[in-house]
Amino acid sequence: MNIRPARVGDVAAIYELIRKFADRKVMIRRSLGELYESIREFLVAVDDEEGRVVGCVALHVFWEDLAELKCLAVAEEAQRAGVGRMLVDACWEQARELEINSVFALTYAVGFFERCGYGQMDKADLPHKIWNECVRCPLFPNCTEVALIRSHKPASKAVEAVDALALAPV
Ligand SMILES: CC(C)(COP(=O)(O)OP(=O)(O)OC[C@H]1O[C@@H](n2cnc3c(N)ncnc32)[C@H](O)[C@@H]1OP(=O)(O)O)[C@@H](O)C(=O)NCCC(=O)NCCS
Repeated sequence: MNIRPARVGDVAAIYELIRKFADRKVMIRRSLGELYESIREFLVAVDDEEGRVVGCVALHVFWEDLAELKCLAVAEEAQRAGVGRMLVDACWEQARELEINSVFALTYAVGFFERCGYGQMDKADLPHKIWNECVRCPLFPNCTEVALIRSHKPASKAVEAVDALALAPV
């Protein structure tokens, strides 16, 4: 399995991966336009033998010390083989290279993220800016997604970073 930055030629495959899970309401649907515009935020997992994209993830930088891991999807037939973890770990490496200390995710796949070193946090402590995207979700405002965070600093520092972002001008 090869994890690499996404290319525009991967957009159709990323779109399909996300669409399938969005139909089941476990992810937010993304348009092709959105994917092209944010393609530089994406990493993909490519099957070495078939050269096929079997997974994707995006890292969206929010502020000085905080990023969101989003759009994580692994094709059903490739699940439970470590691909999701590889993508999440690669995102974390990318965040650290950018000198970002905290990465959060909003997800229903709580057990998976906990296996990847993320801990649950109170959703209400996340910056209001994140709700811009949530209002587009069919489940809003009754969603039961859980917020999880991984932080290089002690948890208190991560919360300070989130608080600073909440107070910062948009
Ligand atoms: C969640 C998802 C990305 C996991 O991908 P995956 O490639 O199957 O995960 P991995 O094989 O890397 O699993 C890593 C660990 O998590 C565990 N795990 C995987 N899915 C899990 C789940 N749904 N619940 C609990 N644990 C899970 C694995 O057993 C493994 O445990 P280990 O540490 O004992 O080896 C994949 O199921 C998926 O695409 N789901 C649909 C979309 C989605 O929910 N995305 C998240 C939105 S942010």
